[in-house]
Amino acid sequence: MKALVLAGGSGTRLRPITHTMAKQLVPVAGEPVLFHGLRALADAGVNEVGMVVGGTRAQIREAVGDGSRFGLRVTYLWQEEPLGLAHAVSIAGDFLGDDEFLMYLGDNLVLGGLRSMVDGYRAERPAARLLLAPVADPRRFGVAEVGDDGRVVGLQEKPAVPRSDLAVVGVYLFGPDIHKAIAEIEPSARGELEITDAIQWLIDRDLRVSADVLTGYWKDTGTVADVLEVNRHLLRSLVGSTEGATHDSEISGPVVIGAGADVTGSTVIGPSVIGPGAVVTGSRIGPFASIGEGCRISGSAIRDSIVMPRSSIAGVRGLESSLIGQDVEISRPTPDTGGHQLVLGDGSRVGLVS
Ligand code: G1P
Repeated sequence: MKALVLAGGSGTRLRPITHTMAKQLVPVAGEPVLFHGLRALADAGVNEVGMVVGGTRAQIREAVGDGSRFGLRVTYLWQEEPLGLAHAVSIAGDFLGDDEFLMYLGDNLVLGGLRSMVDGYRAERPAARLLLAPVADPRRFGVAEVGDDGRVVGLQEKPAVPRSDLAVVGVYLFGPDIHKAIAEIEPSARGELEITDAIQWLIDRDLRVSADVLTGYWKDTGTVADVLEVNRHLLRSLVGSTEGATHDSEISGPVVIGAGADVTGSTVIGPSVIGPGAVVTGSRIGPFASIGEGCRISGSAIRDSIVMPRSSIAGVRGLESSLIGQDVEISRPTPDTGGHQLVLGDGSRVGLVS
């Protein structure tokens, strides 16, 4: 079965990170969220992937390459503008032909359940099979109503008054009828061709739309809080390993210390990842810290945070719940005037204690 992986979009809720970085490449537990998804696809027996990319296509292509590292064959499909999930399917027409396919939203993390969903689809070959998960606030998602026979009887995109608590997870299975549906629907109020509307079109014509209710873990990494939660979740199953060096340091719990990393005079509390080539001195790291490749951390304390590659943090205690981009410098001011000195890009968000 082919997969269509959506790795475009603008990621407005993750700004300023997404001013320069594709939202699918934000690292969680030391690796882009997209890589976790690609592995899940390969595990589910999918090999041929059409990767829909937008403005950040060069980065995605550089990170994923031809996909062989994941056991996949990746073809890149360019979506010039982020005009919706159904629009992404429509530009992939030549790649998909009339084949059945799995659509995976590259900023979603879905652990477990893909293979059984594919098996369920193959057993009944419906027009579409959805993956649903009960959520506390369905208004943020597509919402499904399911009949007694397990068929999906109605869908609403981000409804103000949800008819159920079942959110549509970012994994869908489709037969070729979805293309007819997409050709018929109109853009929504937010100006996008919604896949939810295309699936509703199938339901309205009595074509079968079935659903699995997810048993494993799922998160749409749309916000900073979601990204940090996914980071914690993945770190909880971290297996510690040390390729780098440690000196005069206390390491407790599962900690990965990457090749060429150096930890000196520090305490590292797992689960945490210290990326390759990172240098940590006189600091307290973790729990739930993912420190990227080549970072330099000294005299600082960081927990429940992601620090992306090549950033440096010096003399800063009490960093928590933070998502820090690449090449960022955080330090005590010099000269120390007693005030905070900030240089922040557009859309930055900072929480200062004093
Ligand atoms: C999209 C879909 C929505 C689905 C969600 C899952 O929303 O439109 O139906 O529940 O993905 O992550 P978006 O993230 O584009 O707002």
